[in-house]
Amino acid sequence: MSDLSLSYLILWGSQTGNAEWIAKNIHTEASKKGYTGQCFVMDDYEQAPLQTTDILILVCSNTGDGDAPDNSLKFWKFLRRNKDKTYFKHAKFTVLGLGDSNYSNFNNTGKRLEKKLKDLGATVFYEKGLADDAEGLEETVDPWIEKLWEVLPTVLVQKSELSIKDSIEAEKQIEKEMTELQIDPYSMKNRKESLPEPVEKYAKLDHSLVVPPTEPLKRGSPLQISLEGLAPGAKLTGLPRVAVPVVKLTRLDDKRKQEDRKEVPAFVATPAPISYAPVTMVSCLSSADAVKRTLEVELDVGEGVDYEPGDAFGVVAPNDEDLVQAILHRLSIPLEEANNDLYKIEGGNLPSHLQHASSATLLELFRYAVDLTSQPRKAFFRMLADHTSDPKEKLSLMYICSKQGTAAFNAIRDECPTLLDILETFPSCQPPIERVLDLLPAHLPRFYSISSSPLKRNGKIRFAFNVVEYITRGNVERKGVATPWMDRVTERVPSRTTPTNVEITMDKTIQIPIFLRQNANAFTLPAETERPLILIGPGTGIAPFIGFLEHRQMQRKIRLSMGGVGSHPERQIREAFGPVHVYYGFRNRSMDFLFEKEIREFEADGTITHLALAESRASDGSPKVYVQDLIRRDSAQLFDLIINKDAAIYVCGDAKGMAKDVQDALVEILVNHQQMDVVEANKTLFSWIASKKYLRDLWA
Ligand SMILES: Cc1cc2nc3c(=O)[nH]c(=O)nc-3n(C[C@H](O)[C@H](O)[C@H](O)COP(=O)(O)OP(=O)(O)OC[C@H]3O[C@@H](n4cnc5c(N)ncnc54)[C@H](O)[C@@H]3O)c2cc1C
Ligand SMILES: NC(=O)c1ccc[n+]([C@@H]2O[C@H](COP(=O)([O-])OP(=O)(O)OC[C@H]3O[C@@H](n4cnc5c(N)ncnc54)[C@H](OP(=O)(O)O)[C@@H]3O)[C@@H](O)[C@H]2O)c1
Ligand SMILES: Cc1cc2nc3c(=O)[nH]c(=O)nc-3n(C[C@H](O)[C@H](O)[C@H](O)COP(=O)(O)O)c2cc1C
Repeated sequence: MSDLSLSYLILWGSQTGNAEWIAKNIHTEASKKGYTGQCFVMDDYEQAPLQTTDILILVCSNTGDGDAPDNSLKFWKFLRRNKDKTYFKHAKFTVLGLGDSNYSNFNNTGKRLEKKLKDLGATVFYEKGLADDAEGLEETVDPWIEKLWEVLPTVLVQKSELSIKDSIEAEKQIEKEMTELQIDPYSMKNRKESLPEPVEKYAKLDHSLVVPPTEPLKRGSPLQISLEGLAPGAKLTGLPRVAVPVVKLTRLDDKRKQEDRKEVPAFVATPAPISYAPVTMVSCLSSADAVKRTLEVELDVGEGVDYEPGDAFGVVAPNDEDLVQAILHRLSIPLEEANNDLYKIEGGNLPSHLQHASSATLLELFRYAVDLTSQPRKAFFRMLADHTSDPKEKLSLMYICSKQGTAAFNAIRDECPTLLDILETFPSCQPPIERVLDLLPAHLPRFYSISSSPLKRNGKIRFAFNVVEYITRGNVERKGVATPWMDRVTERVPSRTTPTNVEITMDKTIQIPIFLRQNANAFTLPAETERPLILIGPGTGIAPFIGFLEHRQMQRKIRLSMGGVGSHPERQIREAFGPVHVYYGFRNRSMDFLFEKEIREFEADGTITHLALAESRASDGSPKVYVQDLIRRDSAQLFDLIINKDAAIYVCGDAKGMAKDVQDALVEILVNHQQMDVVEANKTLFSWIASKKYLRDLWA
């Protein structure tokens, strides 16, 4: 008798959609291969046959500082509380973790899932995969899934091999086509230059969320693709499988009557309800000659909203309208049709971001549902190849997503092309809109840390951000989605001309769609006010600390107004609040010392007890100073605070360079003052992350 299991269960946890997409693809492909099973988001675990399925496949990403995605927190709670060491005794499992090695808690959830499942009695049937977004998830995910198909038949009953034969045949067909093409891969001749004529424009609507497009219709920047590794006639290997079509668009009889571009379409699902917060103040914190343009914005969220400084909230910004219209035009969709015709999206296993689109126009879908600017997936290029008529372009597309084309694919990723750039690189490519919707990732809200205190600004929140605009190695100008949009809708306030910022009061007609999200990471002030604080945040990383400091300033004022008792009331108040050490860095004192006025006030009134300022590009040519240099300088004092006085350490800002360098400086403190070795010191810091003594809010 066979001891193969009858069915599989896939559970996924995903913050920004990658794990969901991968899990659902594994599920679809496994079904096609003749396996029986089900696929659930982790938090729906109660509906999943956990106790009766023997083969478990867990796909989970990371967020925060090695934290589990929001839609898996209930499942984690269930796992944590489950002490039955035989609960998963029947089960064999494997884990695919998605992470990013820019974060020091790399793939923490994948590792923890494996440990927890083992603790609960399950055994591993296939070694876990830990994919790294920094090098491209595909590098690990694709071979891991390939190998999964080899391992699965050893543990799971396969009903029919028909589909395997089908897919082998499909691969053979592609190879044959490639050979028959007889192409000179180096020739990029005969590329079509012309595109259809520009289409009609919208009139400006007052304070619409959609910023009217500029004339003429935006053009993309076609990619320069090197086919160096492609020998004529060579066989391409490692091609991603063609993703199974899911999205089906059905045109509805109704037309969009009057488009309301002041509202986010109803199909956009957010973790908390969207509210439209009027902008009450905007201020440019940087000078015109600063490297980055930094804005501070105040929103009226209404009284009684429950938040703490350090909480983050989501902003739902549309994709750039120029880009949206140019892409729809390139996909041969007339603007009028895109604007008026309503569609229903159907399909089994639809990705979460398309599940609620029961009546939406194509313009709305391209503005709010799909991501048009993030790094493309190999599977996307593979799909495009199937809809490209020019043989040379088709070969280029197949090459990019093959193993031989890894260098070309990575070079494309480095250029962060928009969907328009990609489509204009391959003029004969005309993918159906459904396939494009199938393969584009979800358009996501952007999060911002609240930089104000409810004690000081009841009903208002403030936040600060850099406007993301940069030039790629290939000399193409690129910009982010949410920050340039906020810059434009708040009417591009002038850069500051004096060292202190000038606040511009707004008349509340401009509204930003937001939702509040409590800080899952507990990046908030400790309840014990006497605990010493070490706040480390260069650049805009200082933003949440301005909120902390406003809060502490108000707490001190309230305590003072209550008055101390006994013969030393002032001393009592001092003792009620622990010392606050701030390590803050900027490039140039006169250009981007953000929040200078506020910080000086906090210093003057004793809210900040120790201020360390690191200037990295001083006008007098002094050597670069970073926050970690000052941490090293103060190491004896910091050691005393951290070890003897139980200070809490907070770090906020860039995950790539700063967070790692600051961690190294903290490690050095433990090595030098507590005679630990580097490994032990790092372990201690990670244990402090778990115990919330060392808290980080980082962004790569
Ligand atoms: C919990 C949390 C809190 C946050 N708080 C804040 C905050 O208070 N303030 C703040 O400013 N940000 C904050 N962020 C980051 C913020 O959410 C956005 O990621 C950021 O504002 C960029 O958004 P965007 O849509 O303008 O850019 P996106 O469209 O997201 O583009 C950003 C991407 O552009 C690319 N990029 C940017 N610069 C370059 C460059 N020089 N070279 C090459 N590629 C580049 C990178 O791929 C980057 O990921 C926070 C993030 C989280 C998760
Ligand atoms: N809660 C959150 O997650 C949160 C909140 C706010 C901001 N952010 C994110 O944090 C990042 C901060 O960006 P920013 O533009 O404001 O600041 P930044 O560009 O990182 O620069 C700020 C200062 O840090 C210096 N710096 C550069 N490399 C460093 C390193 N390895 N160690 C220490 N300092 C270093 C810079 O110096 P030089 O340029 O001269 O080298 C500059 O003086 C952004 O990505 C933003 O989105 C996240
Ligand atoms: C705000 C943020 C925090 C992150 N923190 C970590 C982390 O601590 N460790 C890690 O390995 N990856 C981290 N990542 C990387 C993601 O896990 C990775 O990009 C993954 O592909 C996201 O998959 P998802 O779309 O399914 O959520 C982080 C990403 C973001 C955006």
